[in-house]
Amino acid sequence: MNSEEENSTESSRYHRNWTSFAGLVLMVLSFLFGFVVFIMELISGHGSPYNGFLFIACSVALITGFILIPVGMLQERRSQKAGHHAASLAEFHLDFRNPEHRYATLSFLIAGALVFVLSTVGGVKGYHSTESVEFCGQLCHEVMNPEYVRYKESSHARVACVECHIGSGAEWFVKSKISGARQIVAVHLDTFSRPIPTPIHDLRPARETCEECHWRRKFTGYKELRRSYFLSDEENSLHQLRMLIKIGGENTTFQKGSGIHYHMLIASKVEYIAKDDRRQQIGWVRTSRADGSFTEFNSEDYPLTDEQKETLEVREMDCMDCHNRPAHQYPSATASVNASLEDGAIPRTLPYIKREAVLALDTRYETPEDASTGIANTLREFYRTEYPEVYNTRKGEMKAAIGEVQRIAATTVFPEMKARWSAYPDNIGHLNSPGCFRCHNDTMLDTNGDPMTSDCTICHLVLTQGEATNQVNINIEKGLPFIHPEDGFEFDEFTLCDDCHDGGGGIY
Ligand code: HEC
Ligand code: HEC
Ligand code: HEC
Ligand code: HEC
Ligand code: HEC
Ligand code: HEC
Repeated sequence: MNSEEENSTESSRYHRNWTSFAGLVLMVLSFLFGFVVFIMELISGHGSPYNGFLFIACSVALITGFILIPVGMLQERRSQKAGHHAASLAEFHLDFRNPEHRYATLSFLIAGALVFVLSTVGGVKGYHSTESVEFCGQLCHEVMNPEYVRYKESSHARVACVECHIGSGAEWFVKSKISGARQIVAVHLDTFSRPIPTPIHDLRPARETCEECHWRRKFTGYKELRRSYFLSDEENSLHQLRMLIKIGGENTTFQKGSGIHYHMLIASKVEYIAKDDRRQQIGWVRTSRADGSFTEFNSEDYPLTDEQKETLEVREMDCMDCHNRPAHQYPSATASVNASLEDGAIPRTLPYIKREAVLALDTRYETPEDASTGIANTLREFYRTEYPEVYNTRKGEMKAAIGEVQRIAATTVFPEMKARWSAYPDNIGHLNSPGCFRCHNDTMLDTNGDPMTSDCTICHLVLTQGEATNQVNINIEKGLPFIHPEDGFEFDEFTLCDDCHDGGGGIY
């Protein structure tokens, strides 16, 4: 090769410059990395929202590399036109006859293969861990801790987070990548809200998650609900209740369709518009039946303007409108203390322990440690000043009660994330939040001005109630009229229970 030839080829090799070379390396590496993560996702059959972050980083690197190549070439051209020497990269020739070059190429290939194998193995491991319940629940420990602790206590403790939160299929896979990346950024910048807002507006529809396991047409009949309530008097008086909840199911040749699931899911389609983000203030409802007829209801408490009816989301009711806490239920202070009194973990013999325990749990603390010492101090102080004799002679019972109330606080109230029963109302029932009474109430009127039914017996039947629970009501069709535990009266007109009940000390 004479020097003239070399000069002419050299000047056309604009791509042989360091910037373009770096761009190429970046592209190859990010492509390989992204490919490995992608294969991992395929093998496991599920996505993890956290991989979204990796994918986005890979894409950015890939595009950056892609842009660097022409940028380098332009630079090189300009520099050569200005009479500078070609970039040093252009002078490099690989020559396999040279043992030094052979050795370097071999080492490069071996190192490259090693890096590839290691990153694949690491990727598989890392991938599986990002998918696991522990990763979702514990990596962002502070943020997800409340959901994780409650989940562990739920009927779905063995169902992976991704089963309900992501599901299968490409569209939700991509959506989860985007929202996962957004969440990671929010956690790192500490811009997430406490508590985490609910409902999750882009949660996957129940048909593609819950209904992969639960079949809505399956007949479930009645479910027995058995509760022991302890009142806030000195004796912590017991009031028991046994009811049958009419869950119901499909209309078949063997049985008539009946119950809650039948009326609200199978025989008719219910749609609604909520005024607020939390879907607690429902302003408009429409029910459409199989025969094509429909009924519309408008709320007098939360009236909607025509414009709001046009612009607000019309939501078709599904499993999650009632079962909104299938995996993260935050039991109220009253419910937790009733349960602990019933099983004896809190000794019922301590005067006013029901009321005092609920009040201690319903105090706002800054940290779990504050809650723990606060509970111990409040309860001790109460007995020391009000019942010195109890304070001096029944230390064992007091210690047991304090320990149990501390345990309830540690597992149901999360001060750092402001997560507690009042932040996450349960829509099943109607005691501490409107729940079913969001629609079934006396101000939700149809076009004739008649209210939607809120008759206590459409959803459940009282079998026994009060102190003595050994008398069973024979008329299973009608049930007994409900007697309110506090005053022993029957309700003669519709009342919103959560006007008084808040699950905590508000009631006393
Ligand atoms: C049985 C289904 C199911 C499983 C399993 C599940 N979740 Fe949920 N989760 C839900 C539903 C339903 C909601 C939304 C409630 C709503 O929109 O009102 C929710 C809400 C959340 C929220 C928002 C805050 C809240 O409480 O509303 C977070 C955070 C969350 N889940 C995290 C997790 C984590 C972490 C796991 C695994 C440890 C998990 N979830 C497992 C069904 C599930
Ligand atoms: C991967 C399968 C699976 C998915 C997905 C699933 N569940 Fe379940 N669910 C179960 C199993 C299994 C049980 C029974 C647990 C038991 O008997 O202890 C159960 C129990 C229940 C119960 C009765 C127990 C209770 O807590 O009252 C309800 C209600 C329920 N699921 C609702 C839902 C809803 C709503 C969703 C969707 C957000 C859902 N499930 C998603 C498997 C699943
Ligand atoms: C209108 C409200 C409502 C809707 C919508 C609804 N459920 Fe239920 N479901 C209930 C009530 C109330 C119960 C009684 C359980 C209770 O009181 O805790 C129940 C009970 C259940 C149970 C427990 C049955 C048992 O024997 O323990 C399962 C499982 C269940 N529902 C699944 C679903 C699924 C899946 C969907 C969606 C296809 C759904 N539900 C939609 C109100 C509803
Ligand atoms: C978004 C509004 C809405 C909510 C919330 C709601 N319902 Fe309904 N429900 C309706 C409508 C509308 C009907 C009337 C259906 C019809 O007439 O076809 C109905 C009918 C029923 C029926 C049949 C009534 C009858 O006359 O026999 C039962 C049972 C029922 N609902 C139970 C529940 C339970 C339990 C809950 C709470 C877990 C609940 N509903 C929450 C709108 C709602
Ligand atoms: C639209 C359906 C519906 C109507 C109407 C209804 N309830 Fe209920 N109620 C429920 C459901 C569902 C639960 C179960 C909640 C649960 O599983 O924790 C419940 C639970 C209860 C409980 C037990 C509360 C607890 O958490 O310990 C009482 C008491 C009760 N209802 C009384 C009444 C009275 C009194 C009326 C009439 C004024 C009435 N209900 C009307 C659906 C209804
Ligand atoms: C005017 C206020 C008010 C209304 C409305 C009200 N309650 Fe109560 N309720 C009370 C008081 C006060 C107590 C006594 C609390 C105590 O002594 O611990 C009580 C006690 C109870 C208890 C026992 C609570 C426990 O955890 O120990 C139940 C169950 C109950 N009510 C159900 C209902 C239902 C269901 C409704 C709606 C249909 C309702 N209440 C409406 C004031 C009210």
